[in-house]
Amino acid sequence: MIEEIYKAEANRYEAGMEYRRSGRSGILLSELSLGFWHNFGETSPLERSKDIMRFAFDHGITSFDLANNYGPGYGTAEETFGFVFDKSFRPYRDEMFVASKAGYDMWPGPYGNWGSRKYLMASLDQSLRRTKLDYFDVFYSHRYDPETPLEETLQALVDIVRMGKALYVGISRWPVEASRFAFEYLRQRDTPCLLFQDRLNLIDRRVEEDGTLDCVRENGCGFIAFSPLAQGILTGRYLHGIPADSRAMQQRFLKTSQISDELVANVSALNDIAAQRGQTLAQMALSWVLAHEGVTSVIVGCSSVAQLADSMKAVESKAFSAEEIMTIEAIASKIKL
Ligand SMILES: NC(=O)c1ccc[n+]([C@@H]2O[C@H](COP(=O)([O-])OP(=O)(O)OC[C@H]3O[C@@H](n4cnc5c(N)ncnc54)[C@H](OP(=O)(O)O)[C@@H]3O)[C@@H](O)[C@H]2O)c1
Repeated sequence: MIEEIYKAEANRYEAGMEYRRSGRSGILLSELSLGFWHNFGETSPLERSKDIMRFAFDHGITSFDLANNYGPGYGTAEETFGFVFDKSFRPYRDEMFVASKAGYDMWPGPYGNWGSRKYLMASLDQSLRRTKLDYFDVFYSHRYDPETPLEETLQALVDIVRMGKALYVGISRWPVEASRFAFEYLRQRDTPCLLFQDRLNLIDRRVEEDGTLDCVRENGCGFIAFSPLAQGILTGRYLHGIPADSRAMQQRFLKTSQISDELVANVSALNDIAAQRGQTLAQMALSWVLAHEGVTSVIVGCSSVAQLADSMKAVESKAFSAEEIMTIEAIASKIKL
């Protein structure tokens, strides 16, 4: 069958999505970004991945978050992206903000992991080939490497920009002190860090507590939050048992043993508050992250268009009363993973 030509929704920028400035930069990102960690690899239906990407773009999401090892099947989420990009999105490249990263294990031997110049440069070239892109909008060091000199990792990021293979750079999950060094190093070389990526959700508030968010903001860098739904726990997904097609059932990064009765009772209490606000729990959890000062964008994962459609409504109700916040945070603080 001949594939129909994709034409993006004409009113995609009037769908309710807002665009936030990333730190002190010229870049505005959609409040929600689409994440490719799960559900876009070789084990996921290509047709569904295509539908999700099109739905996202048609409703104002411009920011797409990839990494070399996303799958499952390392590299296969980037391949999926590349396939769909080639068929649907080429005419829209300049409206898209695409990220990739390197930092975790990717290929065997001493050069397929961590933060060396050798690894970052090779991985970036592989990612460009898989995604069929000429450049990334932002390329991240995916994690702090305690063994490689920070100057080596950071200079590789600077050179990647100078070579035109990425427009901006970012760092993900770096400790506060190393981040401070990185911000200064990159700034001095006219490649200011555009984005800092880390986990932030109602259950995991480490970046608020350890000074990461403050440090990122003080350095004029944007903050982009991942796992805002705690991989699905902060949704209705596990309120009535563990669905066969859920992430927990895959027993990889979320395990069925984590879905205890106590956890479900607390999630259920949060779900009741969300209902009183006229939201689903997923929407309330996303609105809570979006309400944080200094958050540029929130990266959502999803395994269906319906989930994404649900999550995207979070942008409609970002205001909380002080009382709501107190109640929600008190319940969430009881949830231990
Ligand atoms: N820099 C890093 O180190 C790092 C680490 C982790 C993630 N990330 C990025 O952040 C992205 C998001 O992280 P995440 O995948 O953990 O995200 P998440 O948004 O916390 O969880 C996504 C999961 O929640 C469930 N879900 C989503 N929307 C739902 C809805 N409306 N109703 C019910 N269930 C819903 C789905 O679970 P089911 O699959 O069970 O349906 C989905 O797979 C990743 O894709 C990746 O791009 C970066």
